[in-house]
Amino acid sequence: MTSSSPTLSDVASKTGYRARLPDDSGFIDWPEQDNVTWHTLMQRQLGMLEGRVCQEYLDGLERLALPEDRIPQLADIDRVLHAATGWQTAQVPALIPFDTFFELLANRRFPVATFIRTPEELDYLKEPDIFHEIFGHCPMLTNPAFAEFTATYGRLGLAAGPKERVYLARLYWMTVEFGLVDTPAGRRIYGGGIISSPKETLHALSDVPEHLPFDPIEALRTPYRIDILQPLYYVLDELSTLHELSQQDIMGMVHRAMELGLHAPRFKPAPKAAKAKA
Ligand SMILES: [Fe+2]
Repeated sequence: MTSSSPTLSDVASKTGYRARLPDDSGFIDWPEQDNVTWHTLMQRQLGMLEGRVCQEYLDGLERLALPEDRIPQLADIDRVLHAATGWQTAQVPALIPFDTFFELLANRRFPVATFIRTPEELDYLKEPDIFHEIFGHCPMLTNPAFAEFTATYGRLGLAAGPKERVYLARLYWMTVEFGLVDTPAGRRIYGGGIISSPKETLHALSDVPEHLPFDPIEALRTPYRIDILQPLYYVLDELSTLHELSQQDIMGMVHRAMELGLHAPRFKPAPKAAKAKA
């Protein structure tokens, strides 16, 4: 680590978690309790995903060969991602500024906060932990269409102004985090926010929420709350739509969405203002 790196006492997250810092070789020595939490989460989600998650995710999961009994080391993830799509992870302490987030994505580096939820917060936590980032997102980053779209999003975000970024964040939310996709086998999950949450996995494919065909301008106009099960999901015809979208004028779509304005929310306001998570 360089002398400018944060020390352990500097890196408490907003919700009080502390990132585990790697040693000089990049290795993180996870405590046993954290490995047990990973094991519990992995086992529970693996049992739920069959028949609910898209094949591209399962292919990525197989390729990553995540250990079940311990938190994986980022270098092992990086080897697989880099060979598949040129992506890598980036170790970060917690939620990071938008600028850093977009810059990392534009450079095909996916930020991973190196802490894991406590057993008391097994079902839900407000901040993305390593289980969400690795188990939820990294398998999809082995897919070229998804990988290209995510990097494009980073490049656009880096060049965007603050208002444009808030719109872009909605597109990310409705795809990378909470996207569904139709497949020959049926409707499936590809969004990491769903994949890392047992409750949302069941909810997303139930008949409770609304499902709408994916339309980028509509997604850009749809407000969301981070702390509730989503009332609405956008469904892709196929995953390659994301690749096609990344070749299109997304900033033009952002400007069109800004002209049209936001849709009325399908939820009650958060008790405290829920901050948009990228
Ligand atoms: Fe995420």
